[in-house]
Amino acid sequence: MYVVRAPGRVNLIGDHTDYQDGFCLPVAIDREVVVRAVARTDGIVVARSDALEGVVEIPADGFEDPRRVVPEWGRSVAGVLRLLSHPDRPAVGFDADVTSTVPVGSGLSSSAAFAVAFAILAGEVGGYTTSPRSVALIAQEAEQTATGVPCGVMDQIASVFGRAGHALLLDCGSLDIVPVPLPDSVAVVVVHTGLARRLEDSAYAERRAACEAAAARLGISTLRDATIDQVADDPIARHVVSENRRTLAFVDALVAGDLELCGGLMDESHASLRDDFRVSTPELDVLADALVGAGGYGARLTGAGFGGCAVALVPSEDVEEVVTRACSRYVSATGLTPMPLVVRAVDGAGPVD
Ligand code: GLA
Repeated sequence: MYVVRAPGRVNLIGDHTDYQDGFCLPVAIDREVVVRAVARTDGIVVARSDALEGVVEIPADGFEDPRRVVPEWGRSVAGVLRLLSHPDRPAVGFDADVTSTVPVGSGLSSSAAFAVAFAILAGEVGGYTTSPRSVALIAQEAEQTATGVPCGVMDQIASVFGRAGHALLLDCGSLDIVPVPLPDSVAVVVVHTGLARRLEDSAYAERRAACEAAAARLGISTLRDATIDQVADDPIARHVVSENRRTLAFVDALVAGDLELCGGLMDESHASLRDDFRVSTPELDVLADALVGAGGYGARLTGAGFGGCAVALVPSEDVEEVVTRACSRYVSATGLTPMPLVVRAVDGAGPVD
């Protein structure tokens, strides 16, 4: 029996920067995808999930076109197998059972964790290893093919390289990762708005295209290299450039133990995502405000936006009161049912003994 786990992630700051070679600060969280598998002798991969309908059946050699696979959740598995396909990597079939504690469609990267788990599992069963960086890049490309959404690499890197007790400062230009310790005095709180993400896929691609167009106008390959002055009149590009600065400033403040400053930078990040990048929703705005009003250091939408979750940093000793107060404010203002999670930073994906 082979068992592989892969965690979801929450991003503390640095959103819509990864596909412009920028900086982000994700945390691999204690909500994870677990895949249990036994080898088959007929070269077929069969996958079942406790939460998703249907049975996926595809050849282990990557021959199946990922975009034709049904049920649709099998497409990223097919994408992973196709990208792994190589004469040096035995394509051994397996029977896989998927369970997950990452809420689906919440912006906590359940699908990235899923693809990462399968990329590692295929190697375990086939008796070969793939470098962690390749696992992340393969999972990213498989997800892009499966969904058509041109996602960046943050989610997969976080799932693969997570470190217990740490956030990861990721430089998406070089893929350098610096683990940054999270002090015990602070808790990471994630609250789901209770509203699924809307328009996310098409708007994500539009925002990414707008960033690429802005970089092209400036004659640079990505907005990583733009200055604040160059983008002063372009809200989309201004968000990316200012968010990179905030992310680096946040890391300095976290290392210095200045949690008030960290919180202020999260609030600024939310405002920039709302006003300049325009990926917030009224519910996310209410939730972020409620988390700060209830005693959080700071709060912001996390991930792509358009629904899903807000993340807050909260003094550990007050976490229960802050969550209760924030949720009750949110319920009164919206009538929706929020779902709070207090998350811990965990190690990245890998086989479980
Ligand atoms: C989604 C994508 C990531 C990243 C975030 C926004 O989660 O999968 O690559 O772009 O949105 O920061």
